[in-house]
Amino acid sequence: MKVTVVGAGAVGASCAEYIAIKNFASEVVLLDIKEGYAEGKAMDLMQTASLNGFDTRIVGSTNDYSKTAGSDICVITSGIPRKPGMTREELIGINAGIVKTVSSNLVKHSPKTIIIVVSNPMDTMTYLVHKTTDLPKSRIIGMGGALDSARFKYRLAEALEAPISDVDGMVIGGHSDTGMVPLTRLATRNSVPVTEFISQERLDQVMEDTKVGGATLTKLLGTSAWYAPGAAVSGLVQAIACDQKKIYPCSVLLEGEYGLNDLCIGVPVILGRNGIEKIVELDLNDAEKEHMNKSAEGVSKTNALLEL
Ligand SMILES: NC(=O)c1ccc[n+]([C@@H]2O[C@H](COP(=O)([O-])OP(=O)(O)OC[C@H]3O[C@@H](n4cnc5c(N)ncnc54)[C@H](O)[C@@H]3O)[C@@H](O)[C@H]2O)c1
Repeated sequence: MKVTVVGAGAVGASCAEYIAIKNFASEVVLLDIKEGYAEGKAMDLMQTASLNGFDTRIVGSTNDYSKTAGSDICVITSGIPRKPGMTREELIGINAGIVKTVSSNLVKHSPKTIIIVVSNPMDTMTYLVHKTTDLPKSRIIGMGGALDSARFKYRLAEALEAPISDVDGMVIGGHSDTGMVPLTRLATRNSVPVTEFISQERLDQVMEDTKVGGATLTKLLGTSAWYAPGAAVSGLVQAIACDQKKIYPCSVLLEGEYGLNDLCIGVPVILGRNGIEKIVELDLNDAEKEHMNKSAEGVSKTNALLEL
């Protein structure tokens, strides 16, 4: 199993580290445009192998795509992150150009790969990869919902004063401060609806804290977060590589599912060796449907800014 991660910055390096530590891939290629940067990160990470007990080989490359040839999975993290006060949508100008070039280079060298898009605005960048490559829709996956759901579970556990392992919940919709749809109605603590334990008011606070989860960290760090994004990507990569058939919310091209068309947005999917093996259609209530439709409007508005 060969995995390429483009962008050896904060998120890319974290992806490579978590993938390697989980020890299911034979090789991870880290590629960056900055001279020597990916090679340096790869060497540093390789020097953790004997300490962390993994055998995955991590290789660095300065923009040499021949090293990525035959990758089963490629992760795109190249592009600028937001600074405090910025929205993800404001990154579109620079990142669209980067994602377009990177995705066509990747497919040239790995025509059967599965691409996981991380660069923001992620839903629109995922859509752009569809427009740029001729990969089937099952092989283009945007990562946002896995991270947003992890942040949701963190906030739920905090509110419930419960261990995170007892908590389950999912965030669908667009990967933006206003687009996220945390499904509080379906969230549980060990199979019991969370509404049995906390008030609607507290739950609304959890929902708001989840939606601004990325912005809160950007304010604290001065740039966007990387540990949880890297861990979320490694979860998707492992689900595909190990054919786990796990359900994750991912940004995928919709063709009528959820009553939506011609956009990529977060919905639950089953991930396995072939990428997206099934889109799971949840029976949303009217409020959730309305929230999802509003979210889709926002994503489509950002898509319209693409020069296709
Ligand atoms: N989808 C998500 O959940 C999520 C979460 C966190 C961050 N992000 C996004 O991921 C992206 C990366 O964030 P980061 O914090 O790692 O940024 P970063 O600045 O630390 O790293 C980005 C790297 O991309 C490289 N790069 C730029 N152009 C390139 C090109 N053409 N080819 C190869 N490499 C190139 C840069 O040299 C840099 O090393 C940002 O767009 C950020 O908004 C998304």
